[in-house]
Formats: sequence, C-alpha cells, structure tokens
Amino acid sequence: MKKIGVVTAGGDAPGMNAAIRSVVRSAIHSHLEVVGFERGYAGIVDGQVRPMGPRSVSGIINLGGTILKTSRCEEIKTPEGMEKAAESLKDTGIEGLITIGGDGTFRGASELRKASGISMIGVPATIDNDVAGTETTIGFDTAVNTALSAIDKIRDTATSQERIFVVEVMGRTRGFLALEVGLAGGAEIILVPEIKLDLEGVCEGLERDRKEGKVSEIIVMAEGAGNSTEVLNFITQRTGFMARLTVLGYIQRGGMPTAQSRILASEFGHHAVDLLLEGEKKRVVAVQRGRTTSVDLDDSLEKTKKLDLKRLKLAEIISH
Ligand code: F6P
Repeated sequence: MKKIGVVTAGGDAPGMNAAIRSVVRSAIHSHLEVVGFERGYAGIVDGQVRPMGPRSVSGIINLGGTILKTSRCEEIKTPEGMEKAAESLKDTGIEGLITIGGDGTFRGASELRKASGISMIGVPATIDNDVAGTETTIGFDTAVNTALSAIDKIRDTATSQERIFVVEVMGRTRGFLALEVGLAGGAEIILVPEIKLDLEGVCEGLERDRKEGKVSEIIVMAEGAGNSTEVLNFITQRTGFMARLTVLGYIQRGGMPTAQSRILASEFGHHAVDLLLEGEKKRVVAVQRGRTTSVDLDDSLEKTKKLDLKRLKLAEIISH
C-alpha cells in the first residue's frame, strides 16, 4: 500500500480533527502518501481532493468541527453519483479510504467499496454513539459534557423557581446521549425512543414527586422520543405545574473536544491506518472493554446497538 485517503462525512463531531491528525501522521510515519477529500462524500463525487502533509494537521487537535469539512451527500445515494464517486476515488490512485463519521457514512463506505474495490475503514465519530460494535464514538463524551453543563445551569432556575424543565437533547433515533446526560445530570425523568412514551405516567410521576416534597424536575428528552413541545403542553395542561422547554440543539455538536474524545480519536485514527497496512478491506474501528479493536463494516451496519436499560433504571431509582 502506497497511498490512502481520508474523509469526514455526515454530521460533524468534536474530535474529528484529532482523528484526521492521527490518520495523516500515522500514515506518513508508515511512509504512506495521504490525500484528504473535502466536504464529505460530495467532495469525492466532485473530486475535491488535497494532499495532506504532517504540517497540514498542525494546531487542530483541540478544534471542534472538521478542517476537511463535511456534508450529508444525497448524490452518492443515486447509482450515477456512486459511479462518479467510485471513478473519482480510482483516479486519485488511493488503495484505501478512511471514512470518519457515523453509520450513514459507513453505509456509503460499504457501497463505495463494492463500486470501486478500494478498501474502506470506518472511524466512528458521532455525538449519537449509535454505531454497533463499539462502546463509544468520537465526540460522544464531548457532547455529553456540553449538554451536562447546560443542564447544570438550567437546574439553577428549576430549583430556584420550583419549575419543571423539559430539556431536549440530540441523538437522532437513539437515546444514548439522553441517557448519559440524564444520569450524570440527575434528571428525574429520562425519555428515550427505545421506550414507548407514556405521558400519563410522566405526569403521575411528577404529582407523586410533589406529594413527596420534590418541587422541581428536569426531564431529559431525546429528540427521537417524540415532540418536546407536545410533551411540555401535555404536562402543563394535565398537571397545572409551571414547566418550560429548552432545546439544546447544535451547541451539543460544536466546541473543543474533551480529552476522552481526543484520545479516542488519536487511537482510532492510528488503528485505522494499521488495518489498511494489514490488508483489511472493510472494517470499523471500535473500542470494547477499553481496548481498541475493529469489527466487520457490514456486520456493524446490520446490527443495532442496545441501550443499557439497567442504567436507565438506575437513573430512575437514584433521582427520587
Ligand atoms: O448525527 C448527529 C446529529 O447531530 C443528530 O444528533 C441530529 O439528529 C442530526 O445530526 C442533525 O442533522 P443535521 O445536521 O443534518 O441537521
């Protein structure tokens, strides 16, 4: 193997830059030439590619976002777009591509491998932490801490004014972010898409809290669990309690990566290069029981990562 590529695709996640840095410098250390594709898969389709030297990744380990930029590319989902992307990849002369992103990115990588014959290694980077096969993803820890610091602030008003707050966090269709943030922030109620929304049950819980002397609550709600405005309105109308809604939104995706996200990114990027050097054709880098390892790309796409329901129960027990 002489030349490889790197791309960040889908939603950006804090730590993507640390991963790019690790890929580029690890590859150069092993005498590989590296190119970076810009703007995610859109840049592959359009052939927007640049050489990556060791100095091209200086001063980025602490930066959120991605210096290569990213996009959600619709064109690559069409047969024509995929063919264009495969041709464009082959034109660059790369033998392996490291794709940094989430499961949408890996789905594209799996198809790109079939269309181009080029080896694909996925590096999981998403604040949703919904990639099967790995216990955590680059950016997840940062997003948890960002959301947590917001919730700690919201708690001040909730307590002082004896209010209920519904705090909506990201996570797409999964509840990993909500669960971690909820547990760490002492949320009284955590609503996740994996558990059917029971608004009557939520209101009964709030009324029980009042009887037991609890006068303010934080409800952490995953965006995929339902419509947070409807939840707020239901609670207000059904209980008459003072409630407010905060949607944390994109602040969860930006900002300086935590040490954990940077270290994970550094490990993952290096391991991805190693996998290509070992001749692997389609893997996703993963962490399991603290060890950096990898799983088959298509296996990861077929499986659904399970939410830890015991942890959800724990959060419920210790917040009352
Ligand atoms: O996948 C990361 C994520 O931030 C999700 O949590 C969220 O649902 C989605 O991206 C938002 O996507 P977009 O940036 O395309 O609006």
